[in-house]
Amino acid sequence: MTHADPAPLSAVASGPLQGRLRVPGDKSISHRALMLGALATGRTRIRGLLEAADVIDTARAVTALGAPASKSGDTWEVLGRGTGGLAQPDGPIDFGNSGTGARLMMGIVAPHDISVSMIGDASLSKRPMGRILGPLKAMGLEVEGDREQLPLTIRGSSRLAPIAYTLPVPSAQLKSAILFAGLGTAGETTVIEREATRDHTERMLRHFGAEVTSATEDGATRITIKGEAELEGREVTVPGDPSSAAFLVAAALLVPGSDITIEGVLVNPTRTGLYTTLQEMGADVTLINQREEGGEPVADIRARYSELKGVRVPAERAPSMIDEYPALAVIAAFAHGPTRMDGLAELKVKESDRLAATAAGLTANGVKAEVDGDTLIVHGTGRVPGGGRVATHLDHRIAMSFLVMGLASAAPVTVDDTAMIATSFPEFRPLMEGIGARFGESAA
Ligand code: S3P
Repeated sequence: MTHADPAPLSAVASGPLQGRLRVPGDKSISHRALMLGALATGRTRIRGLLEAADVIDTARAVTALGAPASKSGDTWEVLGRGTGGLAQPDGPIDFGNSGTGARLMMGIVAPHDISVSMIGDASLSKRPMGRILGPLKAMGLEVEGDREQLPLTIRGSSRLAPIAYTLPVPSAQLKSAILFAGLGTAGETTVIEREATRDHTERMLRHFGAEVTSATEDGATRITIKGEAELEGREVTVPGDPSSAAFLVAAALLVPGSDITIEGVLVNPTRTGLYTTLQEMGADVTLINQREEGGEPVADIRARYSELKGVRVPAERAPSMIDEYPALAVIAAFAHGPTRMDGLAELKVKESDRLAATAAGLTANGVKAEVDGDTLIVHGTGRVPGGGRVATHLDHRIAMSFLVMGLASAAPVTVDDTAMIATSFPEFRPLMEGIGARFGESAA
């Protein structure tokens, strides 16, 4: 997505927030469904695909690689090329703002005899790619000029060598890229992770017919994929995105009198760290009607206004809530007492340096916050003055988190740009307004 003129917005004291609603499909699962659909033989049908810029960029990318993805009625369809069957694209592929799209696609492309130039927006062009390219190069991928940031050109090979690789950082994107490369490589490729990260890739590879085994011993999990397997086109149903639901839950907890229910949200345990933390803070958040849909656990989430207390969030929990820290920091600002969040190194390499951007946004709105190495401490006093203008640095989650803050703070909160919200949650504003949130361009 090219970045248009900045679109500032203010959020003002609102509420109570009330209603039942659904959030759009999970972003991680949407990317993977398109990519594995492209590698399968035959047609893959995807219901509930997230139609946000990041995922649309991935749909365009698989189309450019010879596996057309298009919408028919309310279902997306991908015409797969079979394992190893992707074609040379005509020109560079634009991944917009999406780290997941770019990084996963490096693994998808790697076992093909094609050369792909990858570009992205200003935020994506600053993000580290060396962590992905390192192990893929060890398998045989070539990178023009040995670049470690976009724009870059990779040349794959149908004769990659399998590897066993221990993740140096807890990253599902890295794990997934290696497993995707291993899918098109003769022999067995193994990824070892010491901290569990989201496991949608393993689940979906199995759903499409690949042989993937996971075994945990002494706290480390070995995930092995058998290469050169044929995948078959499948039906995929994408559950609601818990990372999008987090903003609605946060708003309901903070705005007095609120009571909302979000239906059909993914509650895979590798994604629910925020909900565990909120319960420890004393939040009235319940998971109702837990069930399994399309190989993933799903529930309805009910959240009601709550008096909250500060807590300590352990570093081990970070991978299961890595995208939720900006929202949690805003919630913590309204809690009583300090909230300490440890182990946040990975936050520095997201769509922005989220650790710095979150702390700056809190400070701008009269909340005391400290960053100490990889730790964020938010000193909650039960009340947030607001009145600040927040720099979003091309980061959708910073924009949405601070708009939520403004719904419950004494004075309005303004974010300098809302355009990037379209990368993950285009319906954010109308859905929030539908439950009673108030925004105003005028104060911007
Ligand atoms: C994602 C993994 C996470 C997350 C990102 C989506 C994925 O990144 O922050 O929004 O779909 O695999 P890392 O794996 O780099 O932590």
